[in-house]
Amino acid sequence: MLQGDTAQPSSQRAAAHPDPVSTVVLAAGEGTRMRSATPKVLHRLAGRPLVEHAVRAAAGVDPDQLVVVLGHGRDAVAEHLSSVAGALGRPVTTAVQEEQLGTGHAVSCGLSELPDGLTGTVLVSYGDVPLLDADTLRAMLDEHAGTGNAVTVLTAVVDDPTGYGRITRDADGQVTGIVEQKDATPEQAEITEINSGVYAFDAEVLTGALKRLSTDNAQGELYLTDVLSIARGDGLRVGTLICADPWLVEGVNDRVQLSRLGAELNRRLVTGWMREGVTVVDPATVWLDCDVTLARDVTLEPGVQLRAGTTVGEGATVGPDTTLAGCTIHPGASVVRTHGEGAEIGPNASVGPFSYLRPGTSLGTKGKIGTFVETKNASIGDGTKVPHLSYVGDATIGEQSNIGAATVFVNYDGVNKHHTKIGSHSRTGADNMFVAPVEIGDGAYTAAGSVITQDVPPGAMAVARGRQRNIDGWVARRRPGTAADQAAQRAMGDEPTDDAETSNGEGR
Ligand code: UD1
Ligand code: CA
Repeated sequence: MLQGDTAQPSSQRAAAHPDPVSTVVLAAGEGTRMRSATPKVLHRLAGRPLVEHAVRAAAGVDPDQLVVVLGHGRDAVAEHLSSVAGALGRPVTTAVQEEQLGTGHAVSCGLSELPDGLTGTVLVSYGDVPLLDADTLRAMLDEHAGTGNAVTVLTAVVDDPTGYGRITRDADGQVTGIVEQKDATPEQAEITEINSGVYAFDAEVLTGALKRLSTDNAQGELYLTDVLSIARGDGLRVGTLICADPWLVEGVNDRVQLSRLGAELNRRLVTGWMREGVTVVDPATVWLDCDVTLARDVTLEPGVQLRAGTTVGEGATVGPDTTLAGCTIHPGASVVRTHGEGAEIGPNASVGPFSYLRPGTSLGTKGKIGTFVETKNASIGDGTKVPHLSYVGDATIGEQSNIGAATVFVNYDGVNKHHTKIGSHSRTGADNMFVAPVEIGDGAYTAAGSVITQDVPPGAMAVARGRQRNIDGWVARRRPGTAADQAAQRAMGDEPTDDAETSNGEGR
């Protein structure tokens, strides 16, 4: 995948990096082409903002210092970075570039947050290049240390180099510098080896050269790229590492690129999980966030989105057409045509089709949440079933109970939410209302159509509905001659007395 200018066996390069390593991630640019109120680097790919991908890659080389240079939308970006720092368990320093005066100026701003007299290696990368990985950055450090370069730049050979800086080389193939698209001669514009914007610098060479940059170029900016020609002019070694996978160095400038890179990252995530033993029936319609964990022999049917914080256990099936965020699905469970957030589904349990699992739902082993059932803050015990057309909110249900179809846990009095408790081995009738707070004991029954407002003791049968009365002959008296009347007379063994007005003449 990666090829350096010097062909050295990697064992020779692999010497650990005794020198301190600092990483600087540039993320001050505005990202005008996103046309968004959200800072560009906070747009998400596979559940993580672009800048988080970049910071995680940088953190992957375990640098002594990690600095992110912020500008546009700095407060929102800094806030997200503090949560990333927490997740990574390491400090992430932020620097501010007030005005975007160029990539060279941005790196100077980043270094200003680091101790004076910096030594070792400085790795520079961008906050809007989400597929760059820690392996590539590690390879950069190895190449840089192994060759003794003053500067090593990550390059790629692409079909269309438009917009990128081009790598210029002398007759011996040694790198002489980088020329920006806008400053390139027609011959230089033909060069297809491009600057990815990822570099490893000797810290002292970098700090010295940054002071010598000028704005004498087509864009009037301080170009970081000029550090290469300055180092070369000083007789120092400048080398490249060629990245054979251009996806890794592609940046996001607009939403078209965002979706393009998102699809590629998704392909890679899905492929990775298939290699780990997950069956993905249709990779094109399965979307996975980075923070998802799948065990082997999981099956993902078509149309599945698994968002951050979702874990699926061995042998479980998810889909078709299911979205889960922050859910834990235990081994052997099946979740079909379901939308779930913050739910935990027990081993061999079954959910769906058409279930809506809201935060705080937990379903026990071999439990069931069935068709057109919504659950929220509901703990449903082992083997308990809520099979059809129900709302279970703010409830605790024991084991091996059955909740009748079309039951509503009436949890809201218009001001406050209240809790319902149902015991184990209970059988509640269809079309019940449990008006919370209320408690149904173990082994209790409730009659169909009941509105339960009082506690039901263990083993009792609660009936809370109007008693039925039948008014005999009502149709013959009040709807004479209708089809209903005739049908009733036939059923009672009489000859119909009148012709029906029409076959459905009732109610006219
Ligand atoms: C830069 C390189 C170019 C390379 C390309 C790769 C320079 C002069 N040119 O081009 O050789 O092929 O990247 O994508 O370095 N940024 C700041 N502050 C600034 C300017 C930029 O933080 O003042 C950040 C941006 O947010 C972005 C990155 O640096 O993440 C690159 O900036 P961008 O303007 O896209 O780079 P180019 O100048 O197009
Ligand atoms: Ca760019």
